[in-house]
Amino acid sequence: LKIYIPRDAAAVSVGADELVSAFEAQAATRKLAIEIIRPGSRGLLWLEPMIEVATPEGRVAFGPVEEKDVASVLDAMVANGSHALRLGVAEEIPWLKKQTRLTFVRCGVVDPRSVEDYIAHDGYRGLARALTLDSAGIIADVTTSGLRGRGGAGFPTGIKWKTVADTKADRKFIVCNADEGDSGTFADRMIMEGDPFVVIEGMTIAGIAVGATKGYIYIRSEYPHAVEAMNEGIAAAKRAGYLGDKIRGSAHAFDLEVRVGAGAYVCGEETSLLESLEGRRGIVRAKPPLPAHKGLFGKPTVINNVLSFAAIPFILDNGAKAYADYGMGRSRGTMPIQLAGNIKFGGLFEVAFGITLGELIDDIGGGTFTGKPVRAVQVGGPLGAYFPRELFDTPFDYEAFAKRDGLIGHGGIVVFDDTVDMSKQARFAMEFCAIESCGKCTPCRIGSTRGVETIDKIRRGERVAENIAVLQDLSNTMKFGSLCALGGFTPYPVMSALKHFPDDFGPVPTRLQAAE
Ligand code: NAI
Ligand code: SF4
Repeated sequence: LKIYIPRDAAAVSVGADELVSAFEAQAATRKLAIEIIRPGSRGLLWLEPMIEVATPEGRVAFGPVEEKDVASVLDAMVANGSHALRLGVAEEIPWLKKQTRLTFVRCGVVDPRSVEDYIAHDGYRGLARALTLDSAGIIADVTTSGLRGRGGAGFPTGIKWKTVADTKADRKFIVCNADEGDSGTFADRMIMEGDPFVVIEGMTIAGIAVGATKGYIYIRSEYPHAVEAMNEGIAAAKRAGYLGDKIRGSAHAFDLEVRVGAGAYVCGEETSLLESLEGRRGIVRAKPPLPAHKGLFGKPTVINNVLSFAAIPFILDNGAKAYADYGMGRSRGTMPIQLAGNIKFGGLFEVAFGITLGELIDDIGGGTFTGKPVRAVQVGGPLGAYFPRELFDTPFDYEAFAKRDGLIGHGGIVVFDDTVDMSKQARFAMEFCAIESCGKCTPCRIGSTRGVETIDKIRRGERVAENIAVLQDLSNTMKFGSLCALGGFTPYPVMSALKHFPDDFGPVPTRLQAAE
């Protein structure tokens, strides 16, 4: 009996490791031969730990499974019979079936410790094709695919790679930004834990395209499972000849190393990350020069988010058009969207750009976990705008969100029900900025602290109209005067809260008093 029990941190946090021991113990007492495989998560987080068993019809899922269910689930597995927790063939679960999984196609399916399993599921085909092209050919594919930086800024990946390829230097670097710090986001973590080789393959292709022989993956310290998965993945790829002095089937050299951050949100900003990689405090560097010209150790550097690299193997394997055929406007391909916060069905939902916010929250997410009405959603992390229900017709698209003073960022959506106090959320944004500010520029360093004080005055009912004007003025100064996105984007949640939820600003709103 082949049983799949996820090793993803989300599944482990709700007892997946304990299930492994429980199944082993049950099998031992029954003298039943079982093989336990530990893939990543399929991303249906409310069903975790979601486990699967191989059957002639395909992999049948059960979830959420607790230790007390192990004996009966094992009975159902052996008999291929019914069980209250039986969800049917995993791939047929509607929540999964509705998705377009290009990047996450193997996540939750393959054994992330096995390069052979990766290859058996079409892995390293993108690299094989890349090796038949020259640098310009690879970059042309990436450009034509329309892929844009999935970290949040949405800069065209092909143009970034071309800039590095065209810059002359004795050494170049590839850096993967895995300092996923946005609230409600976990896609980078999930793919690193569930399919590390796709990230390794994407980075290798980038190295070949721009002429870099060394890459670094900078992972936040809060992701120990991802650190382990990437380290094990790198070791396995090396053993199999996919990393090292001579990549299998070519004369190219490429090697990778994992570096672990120390817990600063601002180290997700690319120049601050590079400072940290070089062994210094994570303080933002002024741009220009762009990292593409002068990045790590002063050398031309491709720095991309995990998801950008993870999209590359599909593009090279299936062709730029196959990717670009999905999406809308200038947002091509798919986006791994992360549904979080107060939501009934939270998890990873990869889908083509163009789906509306309302479809995501109401249809896919099933509304709030508490069952109360949705009042606000924050899209794009702690620096993203709050959207009210009136804007739920906004399609998931970089430009459509920007037009409504929002951003899709890294694809994280955090849902709030009608008990949320939006002035408190605005205060949180300013406070977060004050705590995480690197201190290099004044609008962010001082502005965020003054912002907290001003919102406190408004919340206490002190000269509300005047202080709202001060807050607006301060937000404008931060937006246009800050050196990086931390100070520059903090006004988005603040201003959107003020614009869409004005009733929450002033002395404790009557709505909330009534609730208390
Ligand atoms: P940016 O717009 O300054 O740059 C985007 C990327 O394009 C950078 O890598 C930059 O070096 C590159 N670039 C720009 N012009 C170029 C050119 N002419 N040639 C080659 N490369 C060029 O944006 P930034 O500050 O890097 O990122 C801001 C975004 O980060 C925000 O939109 C936010 O959504 C996101 N963010 C993501 C977080 C996460 O956890 N993933 C956390 C915080 C913010
Ligand atoms: Fe540092 Fe904030 Fe200025 Fe960014 S905006 S450089 S985090 S002080």
